[in-house]
Amino acid sequence: MNRIHLTLPLLAAVMFAPVAQAYEPDWKVGRIYYRSICTACHTTAKITVQPIDRTKAEWTAYLLADKHNKGKDTVSQYFSKQYRDSIKATNKAAAKFAERPEQELTADVKTFIMRSSKDGEAPASCS
Ligand code: HEC
Repeated sequence: MNRIHLTLPLLAAVMFAPVAQAYEPDWKVGRIYYRSICTACHTTAKITVQPIDRTKAEWTAYLLADKHNKGKDTVSQYFSKQYRDSIKATNKAAAKFAERPEQELTADVKTFIMRSSKDGEAPASCS
């Protein structure tokens, strides 16, 4: 009797999985981008923002809220092609990843942050 209840979600999972998993985020790209774009700017602003400062849940909430710099702007803008284009003349990482789709780059950085967060698999304090 319970079989159908188990089968349907499973079927749905199999059907939608190829779409959801079309892109496998690359945390190494995320690390380069985080260090070269996020950290570079924070250093200039004389602040320190490290993945290890927050837990996965806190980062997820922060990225979802998308309110950056005390709510003055957004985090997502820094993943945009437009932003990369605007700094790529002086920023090697922005130039290197200039053509990377925004969603992929966002996923790369998010994966790096999660991995390096307080409760991640490789907590990173070296920004
Ligand atoms: C153009 C410069 C700049 C870039 C690029 C930048 N930041 Fe920031 N960030 C700031 C400033 C300025 C603050 C606020 C400093 C303060 O607390 O007064 C800040 C603060 C933060 C904070 C602390 C909480 C908050 O929002 O106030 C987090 C987290 C953060 N940035 C994450 C990121 C991430 C992730 C990226 C890269 C995707 C990024 N930032 C890129 C300038 C930048």
